[in-house]
Amino acid sequence: LTNGLGMTPPMGWNSWNHFGCNIDEKMIRETADALVSTGLSKLGYEYVNIDDCWAEISRDDKGNLVPNKSTFPSGIKAVADYVHRKGLKLGIYSDAGYFTCSKKMPGSLGHEEQDAKAFASWGIDYLKYDNCNNDGSKPTVRYPVMTRALMKAGRPVFFSLCEWGDMHPAEWGAPVGNSWRTTNDIADNWESMISRADQNEVYAEYARPGGWNDPDMLEVGNGGMTKDEYIVHFSLWAISKAPLLLGCDIRNMTKETLDIITNKEVIAVNQDPYGFQAKKVRMEGDQEVTKALGAILSKCMWIVESTTKTRYIWAASLSGYRLAVVLLNRGPVRYSATALWDDIGLDPKTVVEARDLWEHKTLRTQFVGNLTATLSPHSCKLYVLKPIG
Ligand code: DGJ
Repeated sequence: LTNGLGMTPPMGWNSWNHFGCNIDEKMIRETADALVSTGLSKLGYEYVNIDDCWAEISRDDKGNLVPNKSTFPSGIKAVADYVHRKGLKLGIYSDAGYFTCSKKMPGSLGHEEQDAKAFASWGIDYLKYDNCNNDGSKPTVRYPVMTRALMKAGRPVFFSLCEWGDMHPAEWGAPVGNSWRTTNDIADNWESMISRADQNEVYAEYARPGGWNDPDMLEVGNGGMTKDEYIVHFSLWAISKAPLLLGCDIRNMTKETLDIITNKEVIAVNQDPYGFQAKKVRMEGDQEVTKALGAILSKCMWIVESTTKTRYIWAASLSGYRLAVVLLNRGPVRYSATALWDDIGLDPKTVVEARDLWEHKTLRTQFVGNLTATLSPHSCKLYVLKPIG
């Protein structure tokens, strides 16, 4: 959407994955405090996004949405002011239907202009727009009504389409929103996470500054995956140019969680100005090579036909003639994975320097033709390759 927002994938936090409907203004304020005190805000995590369940079940007699009187007694504007004073931005949630998914609050269908004006007057910076309990009309009809309402509301609002991918929003989302969900809801386990990365990858060519594919929010720190699996989760979201919206309780994080989500080099891959989303470029059994092709002028990609779910090849690009490469072992046994230059779009004679973004080390060896790493089950390597000379 050409509203000047989302030139790189949005970064921040959202209440849903950890808290569901159990939210209130105290927790939102504490989350904003924690974003600052942990140093996350300095790394780019700027949106504090309130998901479903913030409103009263009825509009007021003028048809206005009313913040829940017991959980948000100060109102949303007061929360926005607080968040803004911390240098952060506030996001809110509504639905392109009559009721939100939790069925606890009214949706915005038929109230788009009124709600968009209210959001703008409260100081809202981000709207996530869900798709439950609608009138059965197409999202391509209902979502642009809110786009127009937001564009008229007098405040730049990042518009996140939460249609879950059924109607292929990547194909129509660019003029409508700044991001679009390509999947249904993520759960905090390996299968759910990896399948969302797979489903999202299909739409890689649609990602660009101003409009991103969204495989759903992060589960890092919620406890359902191992450290290696969360590293895979964060690496794939980063290289896929997915929104980096934290979904854990950032007031109570382990060092392990913090180390993953504060990896500056991995964040820099996600926030690369080119905005090219990774494609799969190679898959052999359970051994996967994900890569982002270096900053050549046009986006290159190859897809190799395959009959099994696990056989794929991915590709995209990074600025500065560099490549981001993920070697991923999604299987249950230890593997030696090899990125071949031919697969990742480098001339076979190209010599590269390889930076291991999780070890924070530039490897001593320079590589020509291929790069191999041994990977334990459900783990990955994320390298940035830089051609030398
Ligand atoms: C469905 C969305 O996909 C979730 O991310 C969350 O917003 C819930 N609805 C809230 O009800």
